[in-house]
Amino acid sequence: MDIQKIRSDFPALQKKWNGKYPIYLDNACMTMKPRQVMDAMNEYYNEYPVCGGRSLHKMAKKVDGKVNEAREKFRKFLGAQRPEEVIFTRNTTEALNLVAGSLSFKKGDIVLTTDREHNSNLVPWQVKAHEKGIKHMVVYSASDNTFDIDAFEEILQNNRNLRLVSMVHTANLDGYTIPAKEIIKIAHDHDALVMLDGAQSAPHKPVDVRGLDVDFFAFSIHKMLGPTGMGVLYGKHHLLEELAPFIVGGDTVIDTTYDGAKFLPPPEKFEAGLQNYAGIIGAGAAVDYLNKVGLINIEKHEEKLNRIITQGIKDIPGLSIIGPQDPHLRGGIISFTVEFSKGGDAHDIAIVLDETENIAVRSGAFCVHSWFNYHKCEAAVRASLYLYNTEDEARKFVDVLGKTIALFNPQ
Ligand SMILES: Cc1ncc(COP(=O)(O)O)c(C=O)c1O
Repeated sequence: MDIQKIRSDFPALQKKWNGKYPIYLDNACMTMKPRQVMDAMNEYYNEYPVCGGRSLHKMAKKVDGKVNEAREKFRKFLGAQRPEEVIFTRNTTEALNLVAGSLSFKKGDIVLTTDREHNSNLVPWQVKAHEKGIKHMVVYSASDNTFDIDAFEEILQNNRNLRLVSMVHTANLDGYTIPAKEIIKIAHDHDALVMLDGAQSAPHKPVDVRGLDVDFFAFSIHKMLGPTGMGVLYGKHHLLEELAPFIVGGDTVIDTTYDGAKFLPPPEKFEAGLQNYAGIIGAGAAVDYLNKVGLINIEKHEEKLNRIITQGIKDIPGLSIIGPQDPHLRGGIISFTVEFSKGGDAHDIAIVLDETENIAVRSGAFCVHSWFNYHKCEAAVRASLYLYNTEDEARKFVDVLGKTIALFNPQ
């Protein structure tokens, strides 16, 4: 990987703030965008900024062709069987809500999650529990913060009504990736469906939905170099056919009368109204970019930087890394709490890092409030890496973080 060449594709990394370049370590939230993505979107806006899926003129046909191309790129990216299994959404949250809202549930059906879900894979089940009488259950992590497969199997053996296992594939809390293939095999043996929240896996490592045999897979394109407000739901075709429509109206139906509507097959059934065509086209360019660099290379690169950071910060007095301690198990994420002897909190650390050296990190509960409440932990700091981060940036982060914590915890 030629990191300097990669960096030159990202205009936002070239812009100085208060005379210094940014060190962007908030990639789990949103990634930077390369020129190639913006060029693809500008081409749409400059040359054929029209609707797709309905009109027969040349510009509309061009949009249709570009949307089909992008869908096919995502099919390949995921190893899916058919392009129709790729539904464009606004984000992971919408993709997860689509399944929560459209999958058929009976009263008493169980949905099982981990204990470290983003609110987007927790709140929909809590709402459905209220609306449809389903039961939401949690499998707690083992004491070393990895997935407790024995506890999982025990829940499955004791609960015959399990309908869906819906779990975060790679946690935004700590970067830990669950053993998805094993989990899916066990769940299927118990006749349950499996959905993975891939918001933090798809951008950072190769994902093969057919190899995993996962039923639904949700992720956000804005977390993988693509335009904002774009996501994907993958679903096995026969399951998508069975799902009820979600948001309905224009473009979801083949015909209507005053009395009823006949729905189109997937993916159209789920892509209501005019779409974010520029976003879909930009998403295709983001996939091209990631494929060119190679997901395996990105995964290795992040782990290398994670090792530098983990090694550099693990012995700072008062600092505790959240999740497994081995960086190999945490991909490109380093989350930690700090004990403050003289006052201060995680947000203070984030603000000082930003104010002094333009180091952008995340502080707070990262939308995993349930885990923080359960562990009686108020807030943490998270550094999250991506393909354009450098070893120098990792070392600088270690250095500045050490000095920052020392400001709040003087010897
Ligand atoms: C694991 C995980 N799931 C879901 C989401 C929600 O993603 P979005 O806000 O793009 O819907 C995030 C965002 O950080 C995430 O990290």
